[in-house]
Amino acid sequence: MTSVLSLEQFWQSPSRQLLAYPNGDENTLTRRWAELQALDLEFIESYGPKILAGLNILGLGYCGVVLRVRYQGIDRVLKIRREPSPQVSLSVEAKMLQRANAVSVGPGYVVHSDNFLLMDYIDGPMLVDRLQELQSLETINRILAQLIHQAYRLDQIGLDHGDLRCITAHALVHSQEPVLIDFSKASLDRRPANVTTLVQGLFISTYVTNLLRPWFPHVNKLDVIEHLRRYKLQPSSNHVSRLLEYLGLNGVSYT
Ligand SMILES: Nc1ncnc2c1ncn2[C@@H]1O[C@H](COP(=O)(O)OP(=O)(O)O)[C@@H](O)[C@H]1O
Ligand SMILES: [Mg+2]
Repeated sequence: MTSVLSLEQFWQSPSRQLLAYPNGDENTLTRRWAELQALDLEFIESYGPKILAGLNILGLGYCGVVLRVRYQGIDRVLKIRREPSPQVSLSVEAKMLQRANAVSVGPGYVVHSDNFLLMDYIDGPMLVDRLQELQSLETINRILAQLIHQAYRLDQIGLDHGDLRCITAHALVHSQEPVLIDFSKASLDRRPANVTTLVQGLFISTYVTNLLRPWFPHVNKLDVIEHLRRYKLQPSSNHVSRLLEYLGLNGVSYT
């Protein structure tokens, strides 16, 4: 069940600590309260699988506390910079998300300030949970082909996501569309390794690999490594096509 709090109610409740979780002092909280008000949210929702400081939240990572909020009549996601946090502001993540959006990757960016990032809410389970319940190879193929294409598009624009090894935590699935999330470690200054990292995460020795194995009995790790080695030498569409072909994902319709 979702309960909602007006901004004022949120600020008067113990959940206000989430504005600078876990160590924000009173001054920091007060500054962030002013910053939050400037975003013009309609209300905060208590919604999601975790409870933190008395509020149901969508998630908690190293960088952010992630809440559902209502903005301009639509449920959205508010990522709040943790205190302390590895980043000095959410501006870089906001910029990376916008770049990713330009190639139709990631949740839609809405607005940000130093300590808040507002984006579209992805209504769907984590990729691993979705894979576990799927019964059709066609749907699995479709999701994986889309993911690899998304990673390829990020490689093409020189944006390295930086956290795709942990694909279990960083892909959600809305109906049958995978959405890569969390651009907090993304960078334009490294050589992008999205396709290689993603495909390693999917097909080489992780929990996801065990889930996929029964659906991909023909896939052999050494062959995957060889395809990735070639792609790494020359990240071309030709090498992605060959990889997809090897995995049996070529010709999969995903639009
Ligand atoms: N746009 C979104 N829609 C739905 N849930 C999200 C969204 N963004 C993040 N989450 C949830 O919040 C969790 C933490 O977000 P994430 O961006 O990974 O934070 P961190 O940078 O701190 O790791 C995610 O694992 C996911 O469960
Ligand atoms: Mg994360």
